[in-house]
Amino acid sequence: MRLKDKVAIITGAGSGQGKASAKLFAREGATVVIAEWNEENGKQVEEEINSAGYQALFVQTDVSDEENVKALVDEVMSRYGTIDILFNNAGIGFSSKSKVTMASILKTPFDDWNKVLNVNLSSVYLMSKYVLPIMIDQKKGSIINNSSLNGIIGVKGADAYSAAKGGVVALTRVMAVDYGKYNVRVNCICPGAIDTPMIAEALQNKEIANNYAAGPLRRVGQPEEIAYAALFLSSDEASYITGLIMPVDGGWSAQ
Ligand SMILES: NC(=O)c1ccc[n+]([C@@H]2O[C@H](COP(=O)([O-])OP(=O)(O)OC[C@H]3O[C@@H](n4cnc5c(N)ncnc54)[C@H](O)[C@@H]3O)[C@@H](O)[C@H]2O)c1
Repeated sequence: MRLKDKVAIITGAGSGQGKASAKLFAREGATVVIAEWNEENGKQVEEEINSAGYQALFVQTDVSDEENVKALVDEVMSRYGTIDILFNNAGIGFSSKSKVTMASILKTPFDDWNKVLNVNLSSVYLMSKYVLPIMIDQKKGSIINNSSLNGIIGVKGADAYSAAKGGVVALTRVMAVDYGKYNVRVNCICPGAIDTPMIAEALQNKEIANNYAAGPLRRVGQPEEIAYAALFLSSDEASYITGLIMPVDGGWSAQ
């Protein structure tokens, strides 16, 4: 029960790493708010957690839309009166489902560039803008931002995604510096390739799959391995950790 009695918002918790985190956080005693724009997936995760005897609430949210974010935070506050943990996890990546081109600058239309920046970076600004005042008021809170290996190393032909994820790293550091005095901790996870729907298509390609598994641990990661990192950073066990940029990448970035 490492998150006993805490209220946690997890964005993008209808799938992959967010879903694994929602299930783990709930098992560890948190009330989990699933802030997800995919209604079917969000409801399914809510149902899975509640029917196992834990606490979850799905609130359909587009985290890149200010009105949606404001409504989400208002609803959580009116139901629970507090927000202890915010895991800014939602993102769009290279799968065709995201319907945006993520390639080199010369091949990326400006609309797609803006969409990737909005969903992957501006959402962190928006969610934090509405949650921080609550955490500052209660003089306690933990925010975890999900960046990527792309945020800390150069990955060929992934301009908008890398720029957004690099922005998340920089934003994490400045938020840690600005809000530490209120006992609000802000940390960042940089996952390597994680076996979720986001990269399912890419993993079909043997060459790409081999490259993803070319880190020292010689495999891609599982969503639960990110969830455990997020759990630690969320919990009071990490009470003296803020501003950390934590690769969870099987050693990829150490090579
Ligand atoms: N899978 C990887 O290899 C990998 C590697 C590094 C970083 N990441 C990052 O990890 C995070 C989680 O990704 P995942 O691998 O679990 O992928 P995923 O596609 O399984 O999950 C992402 C979730 O975010 C939701 N989402 C997207 N845009 C949203 C919006 N505007 N509002 C609300 N919800 C939205 C999606 O509906 C989906 O449920 C993302 O930020 C991603 O960029 C993934």
